[in-house]
Amino acid sequence: MDFSCDPDSLARWDSEHSWHPFTPMQDWCATEPVVLTEGHGAVLKDSRGREYLDGNSSIWTNLHGHNHPKINAAIRAQLDRVAHVSYLGTANAPASALAKKLCSLFPKNSLERVFFSDNGSTAIEAAIKMAAQFWQQNGYPDRSLFVAFDQAYHGDTAGAASLGGVPLFHDRFSSYHFPVLRVRSLEELATLPALAQGRIAGVVIEPLVQGVNRIHLWPKGMLHKLRSLCDASDTFLILDEVFTGFGRTGKMFACQHEEVIPDFLCLAKGITGGYLPLAATLTTQRVFNGFLGEPSENKTFFYGHSYTANPLGCAAALANLAIFEEENTLATIAEKSRILADLLANLASDCPHVAATRQLGLIAGIDLAQPDSRPFPPEKRMGFRTCLEARKHGLLTRNIGDTITLIPPYCSTPDQLSKMLLAIRKGISDALKTP
Ligand SMILES: Cc1ncc(COP(=O)(O)O)c(C=O)c1O
Repeated sequence: MDFSCDPDSLARWDSEHSWHPFTPMQDWCATEPVVLTEGHGAVLKDSRGREYLDGNSSIWTNLHGHNHPKINAAIRAQLDRVAHVSYLGTANAPASALAKKLCSLFPKNSLERVFFSDNGSTAIEAAIKMAAQFWQQNGYPDRSLFVAFDQAYHGDTAGAASLGGVPLFHDRFSSYHFPVLRVRSLEELATLPALAQGRIAGVVIEPLVQGVNRIHLWPKGMLHKLRSLCDASDTFLILDEVFTGFGRTGKMFACQHEEVIPDFLCLAKGITGGYLPLAATLTTQRVFNGFLGEPSENKTFFYGHSYTANPLGCAAALANLAIFEEENTLATIAEKSRILADLLANLASDCPHVAATRQLGLIAGIDLAQPDSRPFPPEKRMGFRTCLEARKHGLLTRNIGDTITLIPPYCSTPDQLSKMLLAIRKGISDALKTP
């Protein structure tokens, strides 16, 4: 079936039959959707032949660009062998190699075990269920609470959503949630009586930067102190590197900026270079050993999904990691980050409606406000409209409130980065002109 050639039908089928995530569907159905059909490097093309720079790396997943020959080849080669086999009862070649490779990215005897799943939410879900079960069956049933941070985002499955600190997304379901204590800072965490009482199963954090919280940067050194605090009370530290993993922050993993090794590390999004849904929860031998025993002891981790450790996804992930080595991607990220920093500084200095910018590696947040620093009235939806206008200037990116996020693929050229910033600049100016 050729579904790529009739733009009108594609748009109509979407409006009539699709339901998009996090999307007010009444508004959506009232306008024609952009139907993406092709991608090469940092550029995406739609069904009407228009081109856009992928300024949010396809929801923070894409790393080396679309249609990367090495990832394409790895998936094709695996496709010619087998597309999917069960990880329940059998192993598969790319998954074995990927588990070994992921562990090799950390110091020996630290993170030694990999539990695969399908997306960021399930990587978190697996981590918190493992943590809770570990304490239950290893003599500490009272360690049943989790601590999460205000405005955190860890995904949408019920367990992951329990940790979420964005009321708009999760409050409706709060009566179904896991028991979670929410804190705003490390200082607040340190004073929690439950920590000293040994009632915390794990502390969950997005290290260095909370993406969904308008690119909020944690203070330098905070992660290191958090590790010490958890160590002092033998509480698990669960790092959500679903967004920050695989080079986004300038190092392979955000935890490496502060030389921290967590008890659980959750990875997804960029793990396949943005090609296929795959996730991994890494943990220690200590945790793994806590699940060993005779089947009759009932210590098994009863969790998993049909597509766990999908061979195509694992093959893509291996190719993704090989590219980091073969193309010296971390050096590229460092260079592109410097270019992005200059571009952001220029925007902030000469655009009166940019109140602040924040950046870490190839992650940027641009706060919009009125020239006297007052926020725009929320009903103006200035951030949203800026992104819509920027789209007309060839940039796809997203707002979080009145913060414009820019998360470019690592392959973006200096010229493309500068075009992204120009589109945002024009988007702001066009959005100001519309009522
Ligand atoms: C930090 C973080 N954790 C978890 C998730 C959930 O990942 P997924 O959408 O793949 O379930 C996201 C998604 O944006 C995220 O940014």
